Amino acid sequence: MAGGGFSSGNSKDYPGGLTKKVIIASIVAACGGLIFGYDIGISGGVTSMSPFLKEFFPNVYKKQSEIKDSSNQYCKFNSVPLTMFTSSLYLAALFASAIASFITKAWGRKTSMLVGGVTFCAGALLNAFALDIWMLIFGRLLLGFGIGFANQSVPLYLSEVAPSKYRGGINMLFQLSITIGILLANAVNFGFAQIKGGWGWRLSLGGAIVPAAIFIVGSFYLDDTPNSLIERGNLQKAKENLIKIRGVKNVDEEYDDLVAASQESKKYSWKNLFTRKYRPQLIFTILIPFFQQFTGMNVFMFYAPVLFKTMGFGDNASLISTVITGVVNMFATFVSILTVDKFGRRALFLEGGIQMFVCQIVITIAIALKFGINGNPGALPMWYAGLVVIFICLYIAAFAWSWGPLGWLVPSEILPLEVRSAGQSINVGVNMICTFVIAQIFLQMLCALRFGLFIFFMIWVVAMTLFIYFFLPETKGIPIEDMSGIWKKHWYWKRYVPLVDEDKDLELCKDENYQK
Ligand code: BGC
Repeated sequence: MAGGGFSSGNSKDYPGGLTKKVIIASIVAACGGLIFGYDIGISGGVTSMSPFLKEFFPNVYKKQSEIKDSSNQYCKFNSVPLTMFTSSLYLAALFASAIASFITKAWGRKTSMLVGGVTFCAGALLNAFALDIWMLIFGRLLLGFGIGFANQSVPLYLSEVAPSKYRGGINMLFQLSITIGILLANAVNFGFAQIKGGWGWRLSLGGAIVPAAIFIVGSFYLDDTPNSLIERGNLQKAKENLIKIRGVKNVDEEYDDLVAASQESKKYSWKNLFTRKYRPQLIFTILIPFFQQFTGMNVFMFYAPVLFKTMGFGDNASLISTVITGVVNMFATFVSILTVDKFGRRALFLEGGIQMFVCQIVITIAIALKFGINGNPGALPMWYAGLVVIFICLYIAAFAWSWGPLGWLVPSEILPLEVRSAGQSINVGVNMICTFVIAQIFLQMLCALRFGLFIFFMIWVVAMTLFIYFFLPETKGIPIEDMSGIWKKHWYWKRYVPLVDEDKDLELCKDENYQK
């Protein structure tokens, strides 16, 4: 698969800097992240709006208003169609990213970005004008399809046009734009929920058209990447484009390396990643996205308003609290951007894990004390509600400077070029499957496990923090070409990665320069 790689290529300093073309590409890419984030944030808000529930999920609406003291509060939103509304998008995104990886390879990154933008717009329109639940779900599937295409091609596009020294920053820019998208969705939900007549949810869902339109127009304007043109045999055009995006004429060295890298990558296939010497990379590309989702973060991203309502917050208080969590999520991402190369990945992962664990304990105790087994409807005292919101914010901040951005950065930087594509596709695929699972089972789990739900995620947070502590070597400041060395020195992984790389040594022996 072509796969999306955030940080690809090597860290050589080729001529050329941050040109207008690269900046425009970053803005277009930011719209790709915005679209993704907007969708993460929008569904929770609309599913907590009573007019929306009344129209599409009348049973949930009825259950919500009927549940009295003796019955189980935790179950008032438990409905498979309701969770399908949220989760269907991720299933579609998973399939689409697999299809997109072939299209991105055969027809270029730009084609996939355009397909993504157009399908996304169609989905947003269908949702805005939905008359029944099927139009709604079909719209979500189209949105998911669009996101699958965009998420597969945009990061790849970015890593290929960005000058190597800006790659790390641009990687985090994608996560930052996801959080801005989530925040926008939270704010839009709050604003449109105030519209008289109760049709504000249509604007919330339709609002996705704005970033999508910018994304389509932007993608139209962009040229395809030199890497993609070389891959498709269009060498002359590739060189012309490289000169345009670097803003200098002297691109021969980079161009020659791109051609060599393209030929080299053709020698390797998917199967390589499953050989013994890539075992650490394979394990991390599977476990990092898995753990990222099992922190429980998306419980808040998808269902925060529903959760706040379950805890007795009013309609508006739920939506405002969600906006607050969105602001925290966005600002805390900056902490990661500013500190990741100073303190390193391990420090952020470990601190984030411990902070999330402590917050989950407090949130569980607070909910258990107040609601007990069956949940106690009735409003929460202000101070109590405030305390819960503060701890949820501290939990979100911890995620936003650890597992959020690092969940994308680390897999992409530990993968060597020959297996980067394959590994990155696995990373995106596992992320989408796990996002789907969490979105699908959360409301049922809340109903079955009640306040114990957070204990479930707490156990995972302990497991992932221990895993990082024992198994992740520090990758800070290590050039991508030298990354394989970190495994050879690691107490556990060294048994998989030979101290002497037989393949490379064999190649070196054949290399004339080396013999000299
Ligand atoms: C995750 C998303 C999550 C978002 C929250 C991303 O890194 O992949 O699932 O919703 O962070 O900011």
